[in-house]
Formats: sequence, C-alpha cells, structure tokens
Amino acid sequence: MNSTARNEGLLAGKAGLVTGAGSGLGRATALLASREGAAVTVIDIDRAGGEETVELVRREGGVASFVEADVSEGAQMAQAVETAVAELGPLRWASNNAAGGAGSFAPLHEIDDRTWSRTIDVCLKGIFHGIKYEIPAMQAAGGGAIVNISTASVAKGEAFLGAYIAAKGGVEALTRTAAAEYGAQGIRVNAVAPGGFETPGLKRYFDRFPEQKQHTIDQHAMRRVGQPLEIAEAVVWLASERASFVTGACLGVDGGVLVNSHLL
Ligand SMILES: NC(=O)c1ccc[n+]([C@@H]2O[C@H](COP(=O)([O-])OP(=O)(O)OC[C@H]3O[C@@H](n4cnc5c(N)ncnc54)[C@H](O)[C@@H]3O)[C@@H](O)[C@H]2O)c1
Repeated sequence: MNSTARNEGLLAGKAGLVTGAGSGLGRATALLASREGAAVTVIDIDRAGGEETVELVRREGGVASFVEADVSEGAQMAQAVETAVAELGPLRWASNNAAGGAGSFAPLHEIDDRTWSRTIDVCLKGIFHGIKYEIPAMQAAGGGAIVNISTASVAKGEAFLGAYIAAKGGVEALTRTAAAEYGAQGIRVNAVAPGGFETPGLKRYFDRFPEQKQHTIDQHAMRRVGQPLEIAEAVVWLASERASFVTGACLGVDGGVLVNSHLL
C-alpha cells in the first residue's frame, strides 16, 4: 500500500514515522502530522497505546499504521523503518521521540548500573538507531528531515535525573553531528527541547512527587506547562519544507523555563 495521505498541509503526501507515538508528545505529533497531510507510522514498545494512536488518526480520516518495536534494539528499529517504507511509501521525515527508563530519581552516586544502562539504551542509543536506519531510507527517498526530542533541562542539568540528562545531552550532540554528515545530501537533522508538558509521562512524575507540581509550573516564565500540541507544532514545522534552511538546531519549546527569573 502506498501513501494516500491528504494532499494539503505542511507535510502533504509525505510519509514519516514517530517513535514513542503511543502516548504524550509523540501521539500529538502523529496526529498533527496527519492533519498536515502526512501518512504516519506509529512506532512504540506499547502495542495498546500505539494502536490507539493509529485509531485516533484514522478516525480523523488520516493514514497511519502501527509497528511494535523497542528503539533500544537495533534490529527492531531496522525492521520498523523497513515496514514503514513498505506500508506507507518513501520516508521523508521522522521524529525520534521515544524515551523511558529515567529511573529512580536518585543522586548520581546512587544510580545503579542497570538503570544507567537502560536509560542510555532507550534515550540515547534509541535515537542513534533511529538516525542509523532512517538515513538510508531518506537517502533512497532523495532527502528528508529528522527531528529528535531532547529536553530543556540539558541546558542547566537536572538533579536526580543524571542518566536521563546525560542521554539527552548526547541526543543534542548526535543531532548536530548528523546534521553535519547529511546536510549535503538534503537531509536536515534538528532537535526540539521541551520544557514541562502535560503528558502521561509528566503525570506519572507528579503522581510520585505531588509537591513538585506547582514548583514545576512556577519554573516556567509563562506559569504553566505546555500542551502536547505545542510541541507537535514545532516538530511538524521542522519536519516540513517550511524549515528548509534549518539544520543542526535545537529549538526550545519550553514556556520560558530557561529565562525565568526568581525576582518575578
Ligand atoms: N512531557 C514532558 O514534560 C517532557 C519534557 C522534556 C522532554 N520530554 C521528552 O519528550 C518525549 C516524549 O515524552 P512524553 O512525556 O510524551 O512521554 P510518555 O511517557 O507519555 O510517552 C513516551 C512513549 O515512548 C514509548 N517508549 C518508551 N520506551 C520505549 C522504547 N524502548 N521503544 C519504543 N517506545 C518506547 C512509551 O511506550 C510511550 O508511548 C521524550 O523523549 C521525553 O524525554 C518530555
């Protein structure tokens, strides 16, 4: 089956994929990309969540299919990209968004090796696997755009999230490196660095540390956390030709979490 995506919008007729699209920011990105004309492969380790996203896209008249894969496993990611191309056509854009295993919110000297390794495997190696298998597919398609998801916290560090922050710092470095390697081939690679966003991921954090909710809101200059669609807008723009001269960038979409002042 080839892409029969809508013929209007920022990603009109362009097939792409989103990892971790079974929830939160990835789901919002898949939905907006579809509204902007793309056919979307939803990749997730969580089959129920991934299939629900596909259902949501189809209910709006969009084209989507689900592939179950663990991004930390290279062979699974390779297979997922191959399936995406076989089912929806040449790969023109991708968002490497899946993350998990942030671990036990511990200071560095208490992080055990298992937590460290799993977090790096999913949050950093998972992005490497994405880039590694998406690039040949985009070369075959004659060009494309990759958008990796980082976090605003990389710019300042984050107590008790050492493995996660280290992984995300690596994601930003990898993004710039990939941009350098593939720019001449018409493949742009950028990152988006979210502040706090209202997703199941953030809800799990607030459920565990309820006292952090107001504090997190107050950390943002805009005095609120973001809505998933506000990330999707940035990802879809970077994935589209409207960002045709943007590569190697890390776009903060963070409600001013890095410019907030304690004087206000
Ligand atoms: N929500 C926030 O406040 C926030 C802030 C900064 C950065 N981020 C980043 O945004 C991205 C999305 O976060 P979210 O809040 O939507 O999270 P979420 O937990 O709601 O969704 C993450 C999705 O990734 C999937 N996933 C986890 N491990 C996977 C694996 N190994 N292989 C494939 N899929 C896997 C999960 O099943 C889930 O569907 C992540 O990269 C996260 O680090 C989120």
